[in-house]
Amino acid sequence: MTIFKSVQSVAVAHLAAAAFLIFPALAHAGDIEAGRARAQTCVACHGPGGNSKDPAVPTLAAQPEQALATMLYQFREENRKNPLMSPMAGNLSNTEMNDLAAYFESEKRAQPLHQTKPANLELGPVLAKKYNCTQCHGPELKGIQHIPNIRGQQHDYLLAQLQAFKAMKRADMDGNMTSASTGLKDEDIIVLVDYIAGLAN
Ligand code: HEC
Ligand code: HEC
Repeated sequence: MTIFKSVQSVAVAHLAAAAFLIFPALAHAGDIEAGRARAQTCVACHGPGGNSKDPAVPTLAAQPEQALATMLYQFREENRKNPLMSPMAGNLSNTEMNDLAAYFESEKRAQPLHQTKPANLELGPVLAKKYNCTQCHGPELKGIQHIPNIRGQQHDYLLAQLQAFKAMKRADMDGNMTSASTGLKDEDIIVLVDYIAGLAN
């Protein structure tokens, strides 16, 4: 009984902390023009309009605003860490994060640079259905609300993230993505990434 109670209060404290982290950042819709002005520093790495040309750096264009704001929050609060990205988010206010998120959501995602191997054009969609990727990320994998748009995302970035989720090393706001990737075989990750990175926008 005592054990159950303490486990329960830890879980509640954890939830409250998560809500505290996420909700203030999402309370106001961002200002696209203010975000565009602030995005000058971001496009040096993330590419013009947030369309990355580096396979290891994620594209931000057409990412749902809520997903972007949440990601920035995770970096700022050091739940998610990266030597290049963390310093960029460290000093952003909630308003600045919302503005940047609104701006990058408004940009069109460019056609992918990656070309999927012919065999994976058939196997990819089968695996995406089998592992419920389409159930959460949507039939076209474009994401919704806090669930990221992964369609035509950069190849090496996708690979690194899926491997990190599977190894429980990538920040995960609600644990859903970590559970979704624990059952993934390494060879399925290779196929899924080759397929998703080549999807036309
Ligand atoms: C020096 C290069 C660099 C700059 C400048 C930079 N970023 Fe990043 N950013 C990265 C890298 C690298 C990653 C991938 C981190 C990882 O692997 O977890 C990243 C990841 C992100 C993510 C997470 C994307 C996702 O799909 O999960 C967001 C959002 C983001 N950056 C927004 C921004 C914004 C907004 C700015 C400008 C204020 C910015 N970045 C400036 C390098 C940079
Ligand atoms: C139960 C819902 C759910 C399922 C199923 C799911 N995802 Fe996710 N996925 C999420 C959420 C939520 C996030 C955001 C996690 C975060 O950043 O805290 C995410 C994040 C990701 C990311 C990181 C994107 C980025 O820009 O950083 C990738 C890649 C990804 N998912 C791929 C997949 C693939 C491939 C599958 C199928 C094998 C899958 N997901 C299944 C909910 C899901």
